[in-house]
Order: sequence, then C-alpha cells, then structure tokens
Amino acid sequence: MEIVAISDLQGASGDLLVLPVFQDRVWGPGAEEAVAAMGDWLEGYLDGLDFTGKVGQSAAVPGSNGFGRVLFVGLGNEADADVLRSAAGIAGRAAVRYEKVATTLSQVEIDGAADAVAYGFVLGQYKFDKYLSKPKPAKTRELALVGADGDEMDHGRIVAAGVALARDLVNEPAGGKKPEVLAEVATEMSRELGLEITVYDETEIEAEGFGGLRAVSLGATNPARMVVMKHRPAGATKSLAFVGKGIVFDSGGLSIKTAAGMETMKTDMSGAAAVYGAMKVIAELGVPVNVTAITPLTENMTGGAAQRPGDIFTARNGKTVEVLNTDAEGRLVLADGLSLAVEDEPDLIVDVATLTGACMVALGKKIAGLFGSDDDAAAQVEAAARRAGEKVWRLPVEKEYRSKLDSPIADIKNIGDRFGGAITAALFLAEFTDERPWVHLDIAGPARAEGDDGYITKGGTGFAVSTLVALAEDMAAN
Ligand code: BES
Ligand code: ZN
Ligand code: ZN
Repeated sequence: MEIVAISDLQGASGDLLVLPVFQDRVWGPGAEEAVAAMGDWLEGYLDGLDFTGKVGQSAAVPGSNGFGRVLFVGLGNEADADVLRSAAGIAGRAAVRYEKVATTLSQVEIDGAADAVAYGFVLGQYKFDKYLSKPKPAKTRELALVGADGDEMDHGRIVAAGVALARDLVNEPAGGKKPEVLAEVATEMSRELGLEITVYDETEIEAEGFGGLRAVSLGATNPARMVVMKHRPAGATKSLAFVGKGIVFDSGGLSIKTAAGMETMKTDMSGAAAVYGAMKVIAELGVPVNVTAITPLTENMTGGAAQRPGDIFTARNGKTVEVLNTDAEGRLVLADGLSLAVEDEPDLIVDVATLTGACMVALGKKIAGLFGSDDDAAAQVEAAARRAGEKVWRLPVEKEYRSKLDSPIADIKNIGDRFGGAITAALFLAEFTDERPWVHLDIAGPARAEGDDGYITKGGTGFAVSTLVALAEDMAAN
C-alpha cells in the first residue's frame, strides 16, 4: 500500500472516504460537505445504527463526492494521538475491501495527526496469513491523507512496518522460527539496513560464558544463538542497549507447563521480536543514537540433557545461579544479555520480556509492568511509552524482597515465593545490571491480544517496538 499526502478533497475520488466524527455527531474535518451532499436520509440512518461518534464506533454509508462509499469513524469528545491511532486502525480494518482510500482523519488538529493515522491504518490492516491456503490479503493500494505533513506520515508508516515485522515473528509457529532461523532473519535485516551483527553459535555461547542461555538450551535439540546487533550512526554521542527475551518456545522445561499453559508459548520471544522491529525502524530513520540490541535465542525444552531443578550455572558476569524452577527461564537468558549489555557501559539499558504470569495478574492484558533502577531512567521510558501510545505502569524493585532469592549454595536462586512474582523477577535481573541505569519492561500481558481492538490485531501485537523507537528519538533530541 502506498500512502500519499493530498492538499484537499477537491477533485479527489476513490472507493472509500473515511471521515472523522466527534461525540454527539459533531462532524470532524471534511465531514460537513460530504454530509450536505448525501441528503436528509443520513441522520435517520445513523440513528438506526446507533452511531453517535463515540470512540470505537464506525458506520459505512453509500458514497458521495466522488467516493463509492463513506465510512464515519468516532473520535469521542476530544481526540488525542491514541484515539486517532485507534480510529485509523478501525478504518484500516474496514477498508481492506477497497483499493483506493482517502481520509481527512489527518486533518484533526493535534500534533502528529498524520503519523498516528498512517500508523493506525497500516496496523489495522495487518494480517498473518502466510499459512492460509486461501489468503484474503487487503486490497488497499493507496491511502491518501488529506492535509498531511509528509514527514510525519512517513514516520508513522515506517514505525508501523517495524511493528508488523515484530508481529510476523511472534505469530510464526515455533517450528518455523528456530534460533538459527531467527538469527538468519536478523542477519539479513542487518545486511539490508547497514547494522553490524555478531551471531554466537552453541560452541561460542559456551566459550563466551553465556551460562544462563546455555543452561536453558540444554533440553533443546535445536541449537541456541546469541545475536548482537549494533547501530552506530556517525556523530552519535549517546548510547542505548536493548535486551530482548527470545524464548522461541517455552514448554517450561522439566518444571513443565500444562497443555493450556503452553498453547501461546510460541510468543515467548516477543521481547526479541520487539527489539528487531525497533532496530529496523531506528536504522531506517537513521536515529542518531548508538544502539546495541542483544537477543538470546533458545527453546526451553525437556530433552534428556535438560537442566534439572537444583542445577547451578555461572552467568556471564560470574554470578552463580541455582535453578529451582526451569520455567523461570527468561531471567536466566536475560542474565547473560544484561551482563553483556553492561560491558559497553551504555547510558541506558532497556530489557523487554514476556517474563511473568504474575505481571499479568497485577496489571491485566493491556498494561506492561515497568521497573527501573532509578526515577530518571523510569521516567524516560514512561514518557516514551506515553508518546508511543503504549500503556505501562511502574512497579517497584523492592530491595526488601531480595532475600526471597537467597540460595544457601549459590549466589542467587531463580524463584521467590508465591507473592510478588513480577518484582522478584525484576530483582533477579537487577543482579546482572551492575547498577547501571536500567529499565525492565514485563510485556507478558500486552505482547499478545485475544482479539482485534483498534490498530491491535488478534495474536502478536508488536508491543514495545514503538516505545523503544520513541525512546531512541527522545535520547537523540535531548
Ligand atoms: N513465559 C513465561 C511467562 C508468561 C506466562 C508469559 C504467561 C506470558 C503468558 C515465563 O517463562 C514463566 O513461565 N514464568 C513463570 C515464573 C515462575 C515459575 C516463577 C510464571 O510466571 O509462572
Ligand atoms: Zn517459563
Ligand atoms: Zn518464558
């Protein structure tokens, strides 16, 4: 699909025109004229559909002013970028049958309107259909944004493509994304985008002391990989490190999950997927910040060589870990990822992981847990998430709970007790950050959606791509 900017609707034509409507049917930009041209029947018709202009509502009616059909989308009382992204997502989903689409949503008077509309529309049309024998791809060839700022529009489109990449990787069945395969995807992407990349194979993983990644990989037949990508733009002075949990399938290991608990565990690499999506966008936009992306990739399986509850390994930073529950594996691979990140002394480390069921219990499916080493680091990422339209909520890295992780025979054990599981996971990770500025995003909830919702589509959401991009941009600007 091509996204273009046009100055106004004069002489424009197409298959579908998308128009904004505020609460109580207050017509948004461009709607007044179209409504006048449509005639008296319209109000009664919209009454029948119960269409008032609430957020989430939409109504399709016969065409006017050169367009085959018109779609009204509700923006509620006051539109902000979040509302606009969501409305554009609804429009995108409704528009899949139409080839040539135009909208004045981009004329809603808020900062970044064209960005939000391009982003939402593209992602609303997202489909994972590569395994369908009869796929029905979106027919939309052109989206014209009235009155759009071209740069904003392109930004929205490029970030959306990064989110779509992450969704594709998350939605891919585990059998199709073995660590070697994902490493190949990262290598190909790096070649195209001019990123430096190093891929450590199973022998190098052992030699480099990535003991957590190795321990988790022992039960798997498919070998693990550690992938490190670097974006090094000329003139950059600040530096970021992203660490993404890349468990391509989490069976729980010998502390095995239930069948139901395993159903969605191909998505346990959503952190790594988000990091790849963000790197693609950051490289394409040429954001002037040094970014290192670290993604430990492995399956967590139950093969005869699998690590046993009670086993001890040594992580990259030299700390020993007693593994009492092999299903708490994300923190083990992140231990090495974070240890490696620290070695470059970046200004800020952000890890992204589908880490704990406990975080979902605390915050539900739509909000990520955010943990920070200090208020400044946390506030930086919170601000980026707000700008990106992704919901996060800060939880404490409570030092009083650290003793829950005390082991009598190793430096630390990998599980606490029944309570505060998202916090003990964060406390575990903190042991590998060398007290550098660090933020941990537990995306166990929002990485996957149960159904379509605005620009979110059922399945992998690509959550955190947009936040990581916004964070890099904020760092470049300040
Ligand atoms: N990948 C899971 C966390 C998860 C669960 C993500 C459900 C998304 C949906 C993680 O590896 C895990 O199994 N965590 C355990 C930790 C426990 C054993 C301390 C959990 O949350 O139950
Ligand atoms: Zn697990
Ligand atoms: Zn896991």
